Amino acid sequence: LPPEIFGNRLNSAGVDVADRNIRADILAKLDEMKTHQWSATPTVLVDEGGEEHDVISPQDPDDVVGTALYPTSDDVDLAITRAVNAQRRWDAVGGLARADILESAANNLEAHTLELISLCRREAGKTLIDGILEVREAVDFLRFYASEARMQFASPMPLPGPTGEENRLRLAGRGVFATISPWNFPLAIFVGPAAAALAAGNTVIAKPAEQTPLIAAHAVRVMHEAGIPNDVLQLLPGGGEVGGMITSDPRLAGVAFTGSTHTARAINRSLAERDGPIATLVAETGGQNAMIVDSSALPEQVTRDVVASSFQSAGQRCSALRILYLQEDVADTMLKMIKGAFEAQVIGDPADLATDVGPVIDAEAKQGLDDHVANMRERGFRVWQRDLAPELQKGSFFAPAIIEINSIEDLDKENFGPILHVVRFKGAELDKIIDEINSTGYGLTLGLHSRIDGTRQFVEAHAKVGNFYVNRNQIGAVVESQPFGGEGLSGTGPKAGGPHYVARFATERVTTIDT
Ligand code: NAD
Ligand code: ALA
Repeated sequence: LPPEIFGNRLNSAGVDVADRNIRADILAKLDEMKTHQWSATPTVLVDEGGEEHDVISPQDPDDVVGTALYPTSDDVDLAITRAVNAQRRWDAVGGLARADILESAANNLEAHTLELISLCRREAGKTLIDGILEVREAVDFLRFYASEARMQFASPMPLPGPTGEENRLRLAGRGVFATISPWNFPLAIFVGPAAAALAAGNTVIAKPAEQTPLIAAHAVRVMHEAGIPNDVLQLLPGGGEVGGMITSDPRLAGVAFTGSTHTARAINRSLAERDGPIATLVAETGGQNAMIVDSSALPEQVTRDVVASSFQSAGQRCSALRILYLQEDVADTMLKMIKGAFEAQVIGDPADLATDVGPVIDAEAKQGLDDHVANMRERGFRVWQRDLAPELQKGSFFAPAIIEINSIEDLDKENFGPILHVVRFKGAELDKIIDEINSTGYGLTLGLHSRIDGTRQFVEAHAKVGNFYVNRNQIGAVVESQPFGGEGLSGTGPKAGGPHYVARFATERVTTIDT
């Protein structure tokens, strides 16, 4: 495609931490922003009557990163009114101009990389590497959806018809979209769905997770600065209550949600119960993700990929590996190597480049993981758990664990943190394993380590999962290369960063002219 259509579709270059000067810049920025007070406020306010909430750093409960002002119901109402009024104008701007603005937003976000990394670390407890990946992914989403807007929205698609009749189809924005995002990708998954909704000609009410409103507010400031009008993209910080006020508004045309399956159901009910148009719901939710390793796999590669899939980002990725199936005849050897690498993981301050595992998001998340490990011990399962250094007792650090269980059926929910469960299997049991994985109802990621083509073909044909990774780790989907998202309890699709995503935010209009 010509560059004027394709645009800048290269993935973001990111930050080269091998470069000593760049490392020094990152550390200097962390230092400079160490006590900076951030704020998140609704884009417009009727009054200042909303509640203020402190945002506390996961690694240090004494570090108040900033404050978020939650909107009142009048503020929510005003925001949606502004969004409704702005939508036709934004849609009329056209796909090409919207793409230009989204690309400016991508460039501006990239220009603010260092302070975004520092916020990822302070507000969300992300390691520097995860912070860099987070900024890259947000930039990639903006550029990719901009290029999709150019391709799909710039001009109508001609359709066939008899002589004397002209048929054409065009895509248009649906109206006002709410985007409701999680804390575990506080930038990428905050920016991505909003960028797609904007690319398609919708106006957006963006509600970040209550744990991470500050980085979202900064991203909105940066995107406004790049030319996205402030009634076209509006921020409403808050938790489930604010989310509920937004999704029950009859003027919404749709919701793009990422978070737990439980909340997706609540939003689905709320949308169904209100008056107004039948709303579109794009929901990306949790997973009960497995990896299968057979005796043909390469042990060193398995070790590296299991550790990355389970423990990177402190296991707080929806894609993360939760249940590892090891073929019985290699299980002891593999487990010994995995445990060796697990013991070598550095747990500590995410500002330190050597850190592999930072804190989990908050004390409540830590408590949930502690309870799970205690429960598994009580039930008699074998647990290996790391010790935490005394200085980590203060923050919400959780000691990573490996737990040997009998079957995936021993788990009743997604455990969202650095815990790996291991199941041994016999070579002839592959179809039984796939049935067990499918019967969880989740279908997000699945890993396979095998050098046997027949095994890969069998798993590929029978596993009901959105993203299947063979002989590699199963996290870190790259925009456009690995469109990401699940099925069943894991989400509605379409896949984020894929060719069908932006169109889901649009309505299709056909014109027929008798010439
Ligand atoms: P969550 O469901 O608790 O919260 C997500 C968002 O929903 C937050 O912004 C929250 O304030 C909001 N919310 C809560 N109740 C609401 C309501 N009744 N109405 C409207 N909004 C409401 O999830 P979480 O704990 O923030 O995120 C972790 C979950 O997200 C995990 O299950 C993880 O697997 C999933 N996740 C999925 C993907 C994916 O792409 N499939 C990506 C990241 C995270
Ligand atoms: N897109 C994120 C990953 O693949 C969730 O890890």
